[in-house]
Amino acid sequence: MSLLEARNLTRLFGGLAAVNHVDLSVDEGEIVGLIGPNGAGKTTCFNLLSGFLRPTLGSIVLAGEDITGLRPHQIASRGLIRTFQLTTLFQEMTALENVLLGLHLHSDKGPRRVLFGRRAFPADEIARGREVLEFTGLVSHADQLTRNLPHGHQRVLGIAMALAARPRLLMLDEPVTGMNLDESGRVMELVKTIRGRGTTILLVEHNMRAVMGTCERIVVLNFGQKLAEGTPAEVSTSPDVIQAYLGTGVNHA
Ligand SMILES: Nc1ncnc2c1ncn2[C@@H]1O[C@H](COP(=O)(O)OP(=O)(O)O)[C@@H](O)[C@H]1O
Ligand SMILES: [Mg+2]
Repeated sequence: MSLLEARNLTRLFGGLAAVNHVDLSVDEGEIVGLIGPNGAGKTTCFNLLSGFLRPTLGSIVLAGEDITGLRPHQIASRGLIRTFQLTTLFQEMTALENVLLGLHLHSDKGPRRVLFGRRAFPADEIARGREVLEFTGLVSHADQLTRNLPHGHQRVLGIAMALAARPRLLMLDEPVTGMNLDESGRVMELVKTIRGRGTTILLVEHNMRAVMGTCERIVVLNFGQKLAEGTPAEVSTSPDVIQAYLGTGVNHA
């Protein structure tokens, strides 16, 4: 069954079609990659699906419900949780506090109440936060200030924050950007483990090789349009895809 189904998704910025008549579906339990060169429309697509931008045209259905035009927290409360390309962590708070905020950021209470009342997290929430840190390999850093964590750990903490909200569909925007091979390998393993626990994943990445071993299906965007779709083997041998990546001079190694 399709968990997420976007039809004819289109977003214009002035005269520019950043996303142009894109059909995209994600089945329950899948790991789907959305890839494409810089400027292809990946982040815009993400912002449309998660409600941070309104589509100019098109519809988005999540678990059978039309969510087109809903606000981000309304979409998040229906189980679609996204991370951001640039880390949006609270640098002066500990890793655990960030995860605890993740429990509330998407709730209708909003983050403000949590920020002001942060010394009073209930015990069950703290237990849940520590469990998420354990699962993501960060529990030994629970009480460290976020700004003292290495870049790779901060990126994983961003994923942990999203996980705290128990997503049904987790959308990750360029989770391995700026990571070395070792770190990105660990994050990709984490993605598989998250899916193994029953969370469906839509992953945006511009580094094609990083997603090859992780995604079952890959959708390739170029200039806002869907250029190709298929298994990693299919898209990586597609002459159109190779041309699109070579044409931008982007190093996809
Ligand atoms: N808020 C915006 N206003 C105007 N143009 C935008 C905006 N956001 C993105 N764009 C343009 O839309 C295109 C797609 O951008 P983006 O979705 O960020 O691509 P990607 O994430 O694949 O690198 C680019 O040409 C970009 O300059
Ligand atoms: Mg982007």
